Amino acid sequence: ATHKLLLLPGDGIGPEVMREVEKIVGWFRKRGVGFETETDLVGGSAYDAHKVSITDAAMARADAADAVLFGAVGGPKWDGVPYEVRPEAGLLRLRKELGLFANLRPAICYPALADASSLKREVVEGLDIVIVRELTGGVYFGEPKELVTLENGQQRAVDTQVYTTGEIERITRVAFDLAKKRRNKVSSSEKSNVMKTGVLWRQVVSRIHKAEFSDVALEHVLADNCAMQLVKNPKQFDVIVTDNLFGDILSDIAAMLTGSLGMLPSASLGAEDPQTGKRKALYEPVHGSAPDIAGRGLANPIAMIGSFGMALRYSFGLLDEADRLDKAIANVLAAGIRTKDIAGPGMNAVGTQDVGDAIVKELEAL
Ligand code: NAI
Ligand code: MG
Repeated sequence: ATHKLLLLPGDGIGPEVMREVEKIVGWFRKRGVGFETETDLVGGSAYDAHKVSITDAAMARADAADAVLFGAVGGPKWDGVPYEVRPEAGLLRLRKELGLFANLRPAICYPALADASSLKREVVEGLDIVIVRELTGGVYFGEPKELVTLENGQQRAVDTQVYTTGEIERITRVAFDLAKKRRNKVSSSEKSNVMKTGVLWRQVVSRIHKAEFSDVALEHVLADNCAMQLVKNPKQFDVIVTDNLFGDILSDIAAMLTGSLGMLPSASLGAEDPQTGKRKALYEPVHGSAPDIAGRGLANPIAMIGSFGMALRYSFGLLDEADRLDKAIANVLAAGIRTKDIAGPGMNAVGTQDVGDAIVKELEAL
């Protein structure tokens, strides 16, 4: 089978970290995995060439690809460009037109980096969980949404949390599908004790579980308790599924369990094609274009490489290859081959390319 990848390196450190992913793709291709890659512009670099943040042609390529790998966009160079074509607009258009409603944020704590966590080593060492956040509904988008001045001079602000059965069903299926490829456990997080959307969320998750995924363990955890448990004992979780607002907060808590921004991958998934069973998918590091270090070979490529690892696992079903890549990353970290952001005290930091080369070497050796 061939797997079609669209690479959108973007701006700043985007191209630098994408180059390292290309080395990894090249290694797997040499070993007989059928990757086809195309590359296109997005963000400020697309604006410089075409006066838009992503062209229609690039959008069509993204739509035709099995997975999109996205670097990062933005930077001070484009501060003055018109709002509709600012670098971030390219990413927003991709998310919208590919219908990416599920955001997956893993929190992985490599033993070699456990001391960089905000928590004690024994609490986080070996942590490997994923937060599945609903991305296109909920209180960020619900109507009415307004800020008005009342006759008595007071102001009144309203945000509305809205979820439909269909929106909850599809994010629930993403979470259970994911858990089946992992440790078979889903924790669903809402506040059904005080919110109607929480009541519906819990009902729908329970129904889908019973009807379609009864072989996976399910628990319901109120969102405030979930936040507490993430800090107290995060290793009890496997997959956490939650709404847009709680997911925003819980995934930032989880991020701090793991250390550097340069280590955090993510995926955004869309609807399943009823014919092929494939989902639209975009994989990107959580970090931005890091203009302060761009162009100097200092960026940590592991968030980007880990994002490709998620594509192996979740878009292509290449689980052995994904495990091998994870192991290679862990070994490189353990060997002390680290960029400046994660180098320990007294450790010599290496460059972006050195990390990519070391991971390829480790893939070869494993
Ligand atoms: P940032 O994530 O780019 O950088 C924050 C800090 O973390 C910086 O000190 C940076 O050097 C460091 N850092 C980030 N990634 C790193 C890596 N791989 N290795 C080592 N150090 C790393 O966030 P910031 O500075 O707020 O934004 C910079 C630009 O990126 C802005 O134009 C912003 O709009 C854009 N941005 C783009 C995103 C995207 O493309 N999805 C997401 C976040 C920001
Ligand atoms: Mg956030």
